[in-house]
Amino acid sequence: MPPDSDKQDPTPNEAGTPATPKSSSRRSFLAQAGAVGAVASLGPLAIFAEKHDQPAETQDASMAELGHTSSLTFIVNGKEQNLKIDPRTTLLDCLRENMDLTGTKKGCDHGQCGACTVLVDGKRVNACLTLAIMCHGKNVITIEGLGSPEHLHPLQEAFITHDGYQCGYCTSGQIMSAMGLLSESGHLDPTAIKQGMSGNICRCGAYNNIVAAIQEAQSKMGVQS
Ligand code: FES
Ligand code: FES
Repeated sequence: MPPDSDKQDPTPNEAGTPATPKSSSRRSFLAQAGAVGAVASLGPLAIFAEKHDQPAETQDASMAELGHTSSLTFIVNGKEQNLKIDPRTTLLDCLRENMDLTGTKKGCDHGQCGACTVLVDGKRVNACLTLAIMCHGKNVITIEGLGSPEHLHPLQEAFITHDGYQCGYCTSGQIMSAMGLLSESGHLDPTAIKQGMSGNICRCGAYNNIVAAIQEAQSKMGVQS
């Protein structure tokens, strides 16, 4: 049977793999497709591709143009929040950018440092690895919901008393993680505290003081074994 010329693969290169055009990319393909009049059918994708490498606000605008927003209702630090957000928004960005709760820090943005730890329905999570829409109907607590400058939470007081920080960048994540740990595990000895807090990295190396702070706070909080 003669080959169907319309379905022939691109000319193979020397390595035997199909040749691809130089500088080929999804974005350039879509741009070219738009240039030859295919934009009518590729309209939304072309808009997305055009703005794909642009700043977050512009990308958000693209998603809004596409109608890709999601409704999110959840409780944050005791208050109900109703938001329309890009469904790709992480809980971390939602808290910091949409709600101005900047006490939760972005360290690695890859689930490696624990700086972004918050509580979701009482469990500690890395907010950078959690999509905000996954928290629909849930209860989120951040460092801002733990205490106030006038009435610090015992963990916050203990971190101050024991110098459980130097630069302070990891501190809100350390404190929220300690909150989660103590409710998961009850009263802990120093070795168990180190183990339980191992997902929270401190570049300043304040580990001994952090453990001392958690030890003291758990007693003040009346955490039982
Ligand atoms: S910022 Fe989330 S784990 Fe580092
Ligand atoms: S206090 Fe600086 S990273 Fe922990």
